[in-house]
Order: sequence, then structure tokens, then C-alpha cells
Amino acid sequence: MSTPTTDVALVTGGAGGLGEAVVRRLHKAGTTVIVADLADDRANKLVESLGSGAVYSRTDVTSEESVNSTLDTAAELGTLRHVVISHGGWGVAERVVNRDGSPASLEGFTKTLDLYLVGTYNILRLAAARMATNEPTAAGERGSVVATASIAAYEGQIGQTAYAAAKAGVVGLTLAAARDLSSVGIRVNTIAPGTMHTAMMETVGEDALAKFAANVPFPKRLGAPEEFAALTEHLLTNGYINGEVIRLDGAQRFGPR
Ligand SMILES: NC(=O)c1ccc[n+]([C@@H]2O[C@H](COP(=O)([O-])OP(=O)(O)OC[C@H]3O[C@@H](n4cnc5c(N)ncnc54)[C@H](O)[C@@H]3O)[C@@H](O)[C@H]2O)c1
Repeated sequence: MSTPTTDVALVTGGAGGLGEAVVRRLHKAGTTVIVADLADDRANKLVESLGSGAVYSRTDVTSEESVNSTLDTAAELGTLRHVVISHGGWGVAERVVNRDGSPASLEGFTKTLDLYLVGTYNILRLAAARMATNEPTAAGERGSVVATASIAAYEGQIGQTAYAAAKAGVVGLTLAAARDLSSVGIRVNTIAPGTMHTAMMETVGEDALAKFAANVPFPKRLGAPEEFAALTEHLLTNGYINGEVIRLDGAQRFGPR
């Protein structure tokens, strides 16, 4: 009989607005959590505030070497069962043709896709290869993954072609990845959030916040990072949800701007 080991969860962007809420929730549930991020100060503060069972592993999701090193850390801590992909924070805002008639920069488009889409695929493929070697649970599951898209995947706004394309890519790969990984018992789901009230939103001012909230049919407010974390935990643990993308947006549909 195999010896039970500690369950480990890895959260990319774990020091960010949504990632931190996920890290806190999974840690509270008794999982050992790895904060996989590049923001040293915020990540160190977070793991210090949580104490044992929370580890910061500096990770660039776009680098194979960096991700593999974090996956080695996970293996030292226990059995990697859950992966949450929620990094980001950067994106080019540019129209396809600028006001002066010049075309948008290809570099901005490529960089945005690299971070959000290629970064998601990089962590998914490398983590899944490790989780595929896990002992299956009684239900035959070896691991589960939750990625983060955005409702911009469906309703990209003016200036958002790069971000919308990257997030639509995450939506598109969800079912295909779930099908690919069905043979090894790994589920893949994605959350597409609307506008969430992360710490970053505190900087936009009361008027802007009220405007954002007014565009949400019900409830008339921004989403809470804790609501994102609660849905993430549910998707990680509900064994029958697979290959699904769930909007978390209070019925909001972005307009053109
Ligand atoms: N906050 C929202 O309203 C909202 C809405 C829709 C979708 N999303 C998506 O949710 C995800 C998280 O958003 P957030 O608001 O928490 O962003 P955030 O900026 O607060 O956090 C993102 C984190 O990712 C980290 N990061 C950036 N590049 C990285 C890299 N190469 N490798 C590892 N980590 C990296 C940053 O250091 C940061 O800590 C993003 O993918 C974002 O597009 C957010």
C-alpha cells in the first residue's frame, strides 16, 4: 500500500489580486500551496503571513526551465494535485490601425499572447506531465487544473485585440486539453471573470468604480476575488466538471468600450 503524501497546489500569479485569494482559500483548506510568481516582495509577504504550508517559488510561466524548477519544488513538498493558472497584469492596448494610420505593433500582440496564452500552455503541459505520474485517487483522478480567461475572450473591447485573442485561446484550449488529458485522469476547466475588485481597482477612483459597477446587471458591483477563489476551489474538487469554461461576471457583457 502506498504512503499518503501531502497534497500540493500551485498557483501562477499567486501574489496577484485573484491569485492571492486562491492561495489563501486553498491554504485554509489545508493544502500546501506554492505561490508561483515574479513579484518577490508581495509573494514573500503573502507566504510569511500564512506561515507553514505556503511557499514562494519564483517562476516565469513563459520559461520551461523556470516552471520545471518550481515543479521540482512541488515534488519535494508532496504530490502536486491542483494547478491554478492566474498570472498576468500586463497587456498592450492598441487599435489594429492607429489614429495616425499606422498599423498596430506586432511585438505588442506577440508579447501579450506569450504571457497569457503560451504561458498558460507552458505550465499546463509541464505540470500535467508530472501529475500524470501521480497515484490516482479512488475516483481515478490524478490532478485538476483551473485556468483563467476573461469575458474579453467573447466581447473584446476597442484596443483589446491582443488580450481578447490570448484569452479566446485559453477558452479554446480548455476542452481540447481536457480531452487530451482524460486518458491520464486530469481535469481542465477555465474561469472567465468579468471585472473583479482586486487591490489594483482601489487605484482607479470612486467615479470609475461606480461606472464599472453600473455596467453589471446584477449584482450591481464588481466581483470579489473571494468569489473567484470559491469557484476555483469548486472546480478543482468537483470531479464531474471537466472541459468547461464558466463566466463569473454578474451577467455582464462588455460593450465596444
Ligand atoms: N482582475 C480582473 O478584473 C480580471 C478580469 C478578467 C480576467 N482576469 C485575469 O485574471 C488573471 C489574474 O488577474 P489579476 O487581476 O489577479 O492580475 P494581477 O496583476 O493582480 O496579478 C497577476 C500576477 O501575475 C504575476 N505575473 C506576471 N507575469 C508573470 C510571469 N511571466 N510568470 C509568473 N507570474 C507572472 C504578476 O507578478 C502578478 O502578481 C489574469 O490572467 C487576468 O487577465 C482578471
